[in-house]
Amino acid sequence: MAPLLLSLSLLLTGLLIAMTSAGDRSTSYIRTSCSRTLYPELCYSSLSPYAGQVGTDPVLLARFAMNVTLGRLKPLYVDINYLRSHAAADPSCSCKKTAEALDDCSELISDTIGLVRKSEKELTGLEGMVGPQVTWRIGNAQTWLSATITDESTCTDGFGDGCRGTGDDIEQEIRKKVTTAEQLTSIALALVSGLVKS
Ligand SMILES: *[C@@H]1O[C@H](CO)[C@@H](O)[C@H](O)[C@H]1NC(C)=O
Repeated sequence: MAPLLLSLSLLLTGLLIAMTSAGDRSTSYIRTSCSRTLYPELCYSSLSPYAGQVGTDPVLLARFAMNVTLGRLKPLYVDINYLRSHAAADPSCSCKKTAEALDDCSELISDTIGLVRKSEKELTGLEGMVGPQVTWRIGNAQTWLSATITDESTCTDGFGDGCRGTGDDIEQEIRKKVTTAEQLTSIALALVSGLVKS
């Protein structure tokens, strides 16, 4: 092989190895960080696709976790509003109560979208900040993410008043989705809280 070609192929091999081990380092970093949350599996499966961008940056990992949460909350909000009109059109006892519960959820989930969005922004550029400003911003994000979890559980608390039928099915569907969003929010909060110690 010509010397130039040989060194080129060595360079490419080296590059490939470097890329692979950076990827490995990042996925194992995400696995370790996720093991400190309440839902390590969900955490890892939802955040490992971003390994290439996250590297081993704890702030970026937390910000991605918030965006992943937003990615669930936004379609959930659309679903709730769709089902609201659906339930309201059905005059049965079950659907009447469900429609009321969904009205509350619509407002609550709309709030959570604002809170999580604001939290992600609050941590943007954190790397360049020092001292009290860092703790202040982390504290704000913690407060807003905790409020998000409260809103999410208030939403599901409104369900299940004993009526049966279509309303019940709607409630079960929404409850499942809110629960996943709540778990993702809990993961984001744990990752944000981890920033205080690191
Ligand atoms: C999260 O989403 C916002 C809005 O789309 C975006 O500006 C921000 O860069 C995203 N954060 C990360 C870490 O990708």
